[in-house]
Amino acid sequence: MPVVARAKKLEPIPKLPSLAVFCSGQGSNLQAIINAIRAKKLLARIVFVLSDQPQAKALKRARRFGIEARTINPKEFSDRAAFEEALIELLDARRVDFVCLAGFMRILSPVFVRHYPNRILNIHPALLPAFPGAHAVRDALSWGAKITGVTVHFVDEHIDHGPIILQEAVEILPKDNEERLFARIHRVEHKLYPEAIRLVLGGRVKIKGRSVAAGRLSAA
Ligand code: GRF
Repeated sequence: MPVVARAKKLEPIPKLPSLAVFCSGQGSNLQAIINAIRAKKLLARIVFVLSDQPQAKALKRARRFGIEARTINPKEFSDRAAFEEALIELLDARRVDFVCLAGFMRILSPVFVRHYPNRILNIHPALLPAFPGAHAVRDALSWGAKITGVTVHFVDEHIDHGPIILQEAVEILPKDNEERLFARIHRVEHKLYPEAIRLVLGGRVKIKGRSVAAGRLSAA
């Protein structure tokens, strides 16, 4: 009797959430996200890295891992609206689910933010709402603060303002200068950002007004 192979019904493979990461500089947080994905601690894929700076080391880091990385120079567009329209086109064409800002030194307009409601995350090197802005580490030091830290938050229409997903404190030591303090902050960032992304992608966060309820996941 001939053996008839019965066709097996394959289960659909669930699509991994797609991330775009926007960077302007070193990209050490991008690297932390890449590492977490490679270690399977973060179930996602980075489909696109964007920089406004052609020299950004982040671009090299991305390409080393086969990730599409592009510089888009805002100066080549007539205005911010045109620049952001181009960004949205690129992201939508790649079906990006979440945008992670990791040292991206540009302000995104409400139009862009509204296009991805609760789908843009940012990391900031201070405990918001303390020390917003581009010099958070320097500002905390010169204020004489004893504690600063790291915040990962959703991006809303205001700068360094959206609902907070995770925060972690970093002590400011008497002998600290900006470089030393930044190095310790970075170490915390590299752990906290992948963890916050994991919470969001895992559907573990609920946003109610300013408040985000997030259960920490156990280590994968
Ligand atoms: C980080 O400190 C982040 O908090 C801030 O910009 C810095 C980016 O560093 N938004 P890197 O490019 O990820 O090394």
